[in-house]
Amino acid sequence: MTTAAPPPPATTALLGVYARVGPTFVAGEGCELIAADGSRYLDCVAGIAVNALGYGHPLIRDAVTRALETGLIHVSNLYHTEAGERLAEELIARSFADRVFFCNSGAEANEAAFKFARKWSRKPGIVAFTGSFHGRLFASLAATDRPDYRAPFEPLVPGVHVLPLGDRAAAQRMLAESRVGAVIVEPVQGEGGVRPVPAEWLVFLRELCDAHGAALIFDEVQCGLGRTGTLFACEQSGVLPDMLTLAKPLAGGLPMGAVLLTDRIAAALEPGDHATTFGGGPLVATVALAVLHLLAAPEFLAAVQARGARLGAALHALADRIPKVKEVRGVGLMWGLELSQPAAPFVTAARELGLLITTAGPSVLRLVPPLVISNAELDRAVTLLGEVLA
Ligand SMILES: Cc1ncc(COP(=O)(O)O)c(C=O)c1O
Repeated sequence: MTTAAPPPPATTALLGVYARVGPTFVAGEGCELIAADGSRYLDCVAGIAVNALGYGHPLIRDAVTRALETGLIHVSNLYHTEAGERLAEELIARSFADRVFFCNSGAEANEAAFKFARKWSRKPGIVAFTGSFHGRLFASLAATDRPDYRAPFEPLVPGVHVLPLGDRAAAQRMLAESRVGAVIVEPVQGEGGVRPVPAEWLVFLRELCDAHGAALIFDEVQCGLGRTGTLFACEQSGVLPDMLTLAKPLAGGLPMGAVLLTDRIAAALEPGDHATTFGGGPLVATVALAVLHLLAAPEFLAAVQARGARLGAALHALADRIPKVKEVRGVGLMWGLELSQPAAPFVTAARELGLLITTAGPSVLRLVPPLVISNAELDRAVTLLGEVLA
């Protein structure tokens, strides 16, 4: 970026639930966002882990065009359409799942998974863990470890317990003593500070759910679909869930969520048990199919792993010379820097230098760049970050 960003325009027509900052973006190209005054920003936020292919990717443009040429943007889940069915088949072919339910966002996917778990287990309780973020709707918010987000909206869905992650005795006691039908965990926590969850904890939860007849749900809304260098983050632990939720990058920036589930759970569900008007429509599903083909390609995932290792090493080197960086955590292209002070001022300072990063909790800086970011762009991001932190 060369020019100072203009002050943000007044957004009085929009509900004030977002603290919007910085310039108005009018275009995007590759891994850069372009502001109204022409200044360019290297984007290590990617729409909060949505824009895996960056901006203006020809694959997405072609898929949108192809979908529009059929005239079908939306049809309705009253009927069959091809793209959604193919997408479900391809997600199944690449995962543990036997069935897929499509919806429109991450929170919706988790809410659906909670309903499916309840219908299957006939038990009302939900267990989540400290550091979790599962969405802003009434059950997903109840399962989110942010008391400040929850407090103004209580009572939320009852019977949701947020337990200390890693405390086996607490989890064992809860599942033994309460009627818990669902246990939800992010294999790599995102909003809670970018924390890869130890594989042993996922193994333990798998055994616990099997012993007590609860459904294990992996929330891969942020860490799934190639972000960690494997198509699904849980592949790295070898643990399979009963359900896995996806959203963010699934349809290349168009709104789409999904619940992947086993036949064991699916058998409990029948027509009318759940629905959403837009879920899995032909436009979003056509784009998602193209995105999935790219993200699931072994050479694409290998490149994410290589770039992720490069970024991780560079961030560790940064931490070695800048004492205010207390810890570096992450995997693939999902990294967090735990600082010894509030992180937000560094987000502002980085933006002023032309680098977009975000926070994950009060003292963590988060980098979730497009998965197509180049080595040169990663190096530029780390150099700018170093300037900002020093
Ligand atoms: C792990 C996780 N689950 C669920 C959600 C909620 O997704 P959405 O904002 O699409 O409702 C998010 C969003 O950040 C997330 O990171």
